[in-house]
Amino acid sequence: MKPARLCEITCGQTDARLMAPGDRARGFVGKRGRGWLLEVHHPDPARVEPPCPHYGHCGGCSWQHLSYPAQLSYKAETVHRMLAAESVPPPVASPSPWLYRTKVELSFGASGELGFMRQGRWNQVCPVDRCLIGPPCNHAALQATREWQHLHALPGWDARNQTGLLRWLVLRHSSTTGQWLAVLVTQGEVPAAELAIELTERGATGVLLARQSSTAGAVKPDSVELLAGNDQLIERLGELNFELSWRSFYQANPPAYLRLLETAKRWVGPVERLLDLYCGIGTIGLFLEPGQLTGVESVPEAIENARANALRNQRSGRFEVGPAEEWPDLSCDLLVLDPPRSGCHPKLIKRLAAEGPETLLYVSCNPARLAEEMKVLGQRYRLERLQCFDFFPQTPHIEALCLLRLK
Ligand SMILES: C[S@@+](CC[C@H](N)C(=O)[O-])C[C@H]1O[C@@H](n2cnc3c(N)ncnc32)[C@H](O)[C@@H]1O
Repeated sequence: MKPARLCEITCGQTDARLMAPGDRARGFVGKRGRGWLLEVHHPDPARVEPPCPHYGHCGGCSWQHLSYPAQLSYKAETVHRMLAAESVPPPVASPSPWLYRTKVELSFGASGELGFMRQGRWNQVCPVDRCLIGPPCNHAALQATREWQHLHALPGWDARNQTGLLRWLVLRHSSTTGQWLAVLVTQGEVPAAELAIELTERGATGVLLARQSSTAGAVKPDSVELLAGNDQLIERLGELNFELSWRSFYQANPPAYLRLLETAKRWVGPVERLLDLYCGIGTIGLFLEPGQLTGVESVPEAIENARANALRNQRSGRFEVGPAEEWPDLSCDLLVLDPPRSGCHPKLIKRLAAEGPETLLYVSCNPARLAEEMKVLGQRYRLERLQCFDFFPQTPHIEALCLLRLK
């Protein structure tokens, strides 16, 4: 096997993490673009000291070594390059570059650790006490859970041997009401009622126990029990209130999301018939206040939330569970697409390129995937407006809002 070469490397030339675009550095280059950073001999002037003690070990927040303005400008350059857009205005900054993330999924590891997955490892957990992008209540939840775990000597999950009891602690926080939910996911019976008391004393407004038999590396419980409090959270976006269950998708940075929604509303103006595909709990459709609203989403709990959210805000709308790509009728005045990171189903992109409506509003958390889809959508649509919003400070990710019109 050919050994990795030691040479000068630049950011983007390999998948070497923790580099800054302006760094001059040495590292190893292996096969298929694999790269490892050895030393930075001329650092990018935008480098700063990463404040988190878990930086470099934990799999998240890999851009903490860049100043926030530099993160924004590098993100704008990336989107510009990917979408070959004529000009990309600077991204709208997150109202807070720290403490913004409303949902985290912490893993239990084989030696009893509780934290985030270690960088580049599928079976090792990096223990964390405090995560600087999450709210302070996460710290209290982590402490209480760790104490309870140690008191009862409960084993975490050994991913290699697929043994153990405790799997995940999912924490979800409302940025506007301060409510927070803790969901313990286990592979067997544990004295969870005691943990529920501890968490409630530290401010949790709901504690749930999710029992899972699947040994897959993702949360897929067979049953969920409410142990204390309420199983829903309320979030406020502008004038509207939204309820959400722990299983429903909600944007991780609500204050930044509100800016995106306000911009979308300004761009599209009054709308009569709106079709909201990948609608989640109904936020975009309800916020844009169309004459007639239809929302489609694959998670049943999210659709229950969307129906309740329409009533809660005295709005009307039809919300249906199902795959967006199978929705039979695409006729509307505005079609909203807000797919997961993997993008829209190719079948839906093909249908839109053949019979899509006059205007599409595309909300993308993966502009690289959107650029691929534009190769097909571009047969029928032109990109009329583009604005990026930084939903994910300290990471390379960015959210793009695009308005597409028939050519
Ligand atoms: C990025 S989220 C957007 C949710 C919502 N628009 C919002 O802003 O909160 C993507 C949503 O698509 C849903 N989803 C994933 N695949 C789907 C599919 N094939 N058809 C319909 N919905 C899907 C997910 O459950 C998730 O709620």
